[in-house]
Amino acid sequence: MFVPNFTVRSPHVRYTTDAIEATYRYETTQVETDGATGEAVAVPTAATYHFRTATKVGRVGLMLVGLGGNNGSTVTAAIAANRRGLSWRTKAGEQSANYLGSILMSSTLRVGADAATGEEVHTPLRSLLPMVHPNDLVVGGWDINSADLGTAMRRAAVLDVGAQVQLEEELSSIVPLPSVMYGDFIAANQAARADNLLPGDDKGAHLARIRADIRDFKTANDIDTVVVLWTANTERFAALTPGVNDTADALLAAIDASHPEVSPSTLFAVAAILEGCPYVNGSPQNTFVPGAVDLAVRHDVFIGGDDFKSGQTKFKSVLVDFLVQAGLKPTAIVSYNHLGNNDGRNLSAPSQFRSKEISKSSVVDDVVASNALLYPPGPGGAPPKGPDHVVVIKYVPAVGDSKRALDEYTSDIFMGGTNTIVAHNTCEDSLLASPLILDLAILAELSTRITYRTPEMQRHTHFHPVLSLLSYLLKAPIVPDGAPVVNALFKQRACLDNLLRACVGLPPENDMRLEQRAHPAQPAGSRATAAAAAAAATGAAAEADAAPAAAAAKAGIRRVDAEGVRPSIPSKEFGGATAINGLNSNAWNANGMGTARSGERAGGGGAVAGEAAAPA
Ligand SMILES: NC(=O)c1ccc[n+]([C@@H]2O[C@H](COP(=O)([O-])OP(=O)(O)OC[C@H]3O[C@@H](n4cnc5c(N)ncnc54)[C@H](O)[C@@H]3O)[C@@H](O)[C@H]2O)c1
Repeated sequence: MFVPNFTVRSPHVRYTTDAIEATYRYETTQVETDGATGEAVAVPTAATYHFRTATKVGRVGLMLVGLGGNNGSTVTAAIAANRRGLSWRTKAGEQSANYLGSILMSSTLRVGADAATGEEVHTPLRSLLPMVHPNDLVVGGWDINSADLGTAMRRAAVLDVGAQVQLEEELSSIVPLPSVMYGDFIAANQAARADNLLPGDDKGAHLARIRADIRDFKTANDIDTVVVLWTANTERFAALTPGVNDTADALLAAIDASHPEVSPSTLFAVAAILEGCPYVNGSPQNTFVPGAVDLAVRHDVFIGGDDFKSGQTKFKSVLVDFLVQAGLKPTAIVSYNHLGNNDGRNLSAPSQFRSKEISKSSVVDDVVASNALLYPPGPGGAPPKGPDHVVVIKYVPAVGDSKRALDEYTSDIFMGGTNTIVAHNTCEDSLLASPLILDLAILAELSTRITYRTPEMQRHTHFHPVLSLLSYLLKAPIVPDGAPVVNALFKQRACLDNLLRACVGLPPENDMRLEQRAHPAQPAGSRATAAAAAAAATGAAAEADAAPAAAAAKAGIRRVDAEGVRPSIPSKEFGGATAINGLNSNAWNANGMGTARSGERAGGGGAVAGEAAAPA
């Protein structure tokens, strides 16, 4: 069953005129080592979080570095096509603009079970919280190449000609801002493209110009929040040097001194951070040198990266997780790619390929680390020997943007056997990456409107500036210092879904479905459908099995709103009022809820104890 949107009725959730406030009990498990026995002891823990999501979605700008590339031109063209509801003829028939591949626009999540039938109820992921619609994004940005976007779209050869013809005039009016190109950060084979560069080689002056570009874009388009996203060519890694890029101050000084190891992507990151704009790195290089992370934390601005997870790596992060979870032991993962677009051309240079190789290689690390039965530590506690993991990328111009990814997974199985899985994946590169760009931008903007407070905190605050929430969309996710990196795709998705659910006061999806698992020998009441139980709990007239249903309700299938409080949570935390909450983002937009202003991001909200829930 599908519902386009839904309302939450809960004493733990309330709507103000400009926010959704949810009080949430976060339950997890800590593992301790018993001092006396040395044994591991698992300790369930719980903490209260007050989430506050500002509901006014303002005007959102998306500034792409690499606007004229295959991704940049495809994402811009796709937004225009969707906005205009275009369709065009192909040799296979009529095709319409869509947002397939965007988890926000085209995927759903389970809300719960239908009260009357027990049927699963699903809703669009975007319905959970108010988010900007991609059609409403204002796109702009920079490129070292001066081609207008109509020309860039044709050069990319990604979209059907029928679409290009209809879009060309509109896109031709968009011209990338001049950018910077330093030393050998991108491959020498890109030099011919560089006809749109800021003058001079003073990196401090370049930083000032890029910051001014962001401000001008905001003003010219009456934008509230700008997200800056790097979808330019893959750079080589920058050398990490103490005193150059290890701290925010060192990095700023290095920019002032035009130090050669400050890469263009880091310069853009610094510009975005200093302008208070979230910055996402869609390529594999180490844009976020320690000094850039330090600067983001200092300015409380979100950064996310690295490298879009669009094709082969996404598949790998599912398949290896599946194999290891099945108790099979991958011993070799060999990945071969060939592609013929400009990205492939750039990656044919060794140091740019090396960045991609690093980003693709770490994707199985957490899965290997999770299973010491398959991958025990080496002698003397040495790290476990994981699977042999090889990545090859070749540039084959003839295949254009239609990248081929061939994988072979070899695993040890029962009693000395071997299992081999071979996959051939034709990944239309930019058509897979472009929807991720949209999701990244929309989630980054949403994150600027979410704050939380625990009972110990005086004020609401944002999540950590290193926005690991974006991990699902990225090959080599960056995480806050000391946090584990999760690459397994479905864990990443569960994190995103459950966190958004928490913001509207819904429990995490745990898939236990206890209400459907009662033993047949138990009294009928404990097998009653959720429907009957719910009906009994609310006092509604029940039909033939009313008595057992009521018994079930009494036995523990309780509606939180009917009971008022959950066991073991002090009632003062939650209060007793019931709020009905409209959660449809479209409804919020359609209702003209206006615009979130920049002060909401920086000010930290400041809701204090008692504000997050109605008083008891
Ligand atoms: N499926 C995918 O397409 C995918 C997946 C993961 C990562 N990526 C990464 O996304 C990036 C873009 O991919 P693409 O296919 O669009 O590549 P592309 O070569 O078509 O586009 C890159 C654009 O960046 C421009 N550019 C280079 N340096 C610049 C700079 N300093 N400032 C501004 N513009 C600059 C180039 O002129 C070009 O127009 C690549 O780094 C690629 O590795 C792509």
